[in-house]
Amino acid sequence: MALDHKPDHVPVVERNLDYTHFELRSLSPHLGAEVRGLDLSQPLSAAQQAELRRAFLDWSVLVFPEQQLAAEHHKALGRLFGELHVHPQLRGSDMKHPEVLPVVTNENSPFTPGDGWHTDVTCDEIPPLGSMLYVRETPSCGGGDTLFADMYAAYELLSDPMKEFLEGLTAIHDGAGPYNEQAELLGLPTPEGGHPRTEHPVVIRHPETGRKILFVNSGFTTRIVGLSSAESRGVLDILFRHIESNPKLWCRVSWQPNTLTFWDNRCTQHHAIWDYYPHARIGGRVSILGTTRPTA
Ligand code: SIN
Repeated sequence: MALDHKPDHVPVVERNLDYTHFELRSLSPHLGAEVRGLDLSQPLSAAQQAELRRAFLDWSVLVFPEQQLAAEHHKALGRLFGELHVHPQLRGSDMKHPEVLPVVTNENSPFTPGDGWHTDVTCDEIPPLGSMLYVRETPSCGGGDTLFADMYAAYELLSDPMKEFLEGLTAIHDGAGPYNEQAELLGLPTPEGGHPRTEHPVVIRHPETGRKILFVNSGFTTRIVGLSSAESRGVLDILFRHIESNPKLWCRVSWQPNTLTFWDNRCTQHHAIWDYYPHARIGGRVSILGTTRPTA
């Protein structure tokens, strides 16, 4: 008997696995790869950079274990891919490296940054292209992994009627929710002028690969424009659940001390798992500015 529904398979995209400047091992057939054989504290040759860019576009999440990186190395690596972002909460601060957002969680932390599915800073008109998180210390009890979700595959797995419905819709991405909550927990004032808020298409195309991406996230997306409030809530809940409940979309990064992970913020979401309280995890994140608004 013929199936009356499409099986839920994530299409495997064929990739050229021929890398000459490093070894690459995939973390899942769709998303994420571990890269060994490059010292990221040293200048990379043009050929190494070109191969790294190809791997980045192919795998969206690249994990580099056993790296010894000072803030200067971290920033220099980020600058190979574009200008660096300064997080709204650090703008105007007098830290020596405001481009390196501390990602530190210990027994005194009221929350851990990124503990929930999100894409970084989509409340900006041009969200970051990608982020590089360098974890120097991992919890002594283990844990502290990060889940990543493939938003190309999230789009592909939607049914055709749902894809058709979402085509042409836009959504509001608002920084007020997450940032006010964090500021309150940290006892920080709301910045003058409030937090960024913007509108993006619900389905976008990756500016370099041209592939379609589902571009809503439960961290920042508050409303689908043109739907009633109840409809918007219902549709967003379906889409968030699609991402949160589907392990086929994910890969899991298990950090070792001194690991750097570089993710493509345009086509992934991530979720930092805080399963190690009261132990500590210590790192810093550099984000690279995007160059174009997300477009359909
Ligand atoms: C983040 O959202 O950038 C933090 C991710 C992590 O700590 O694993």
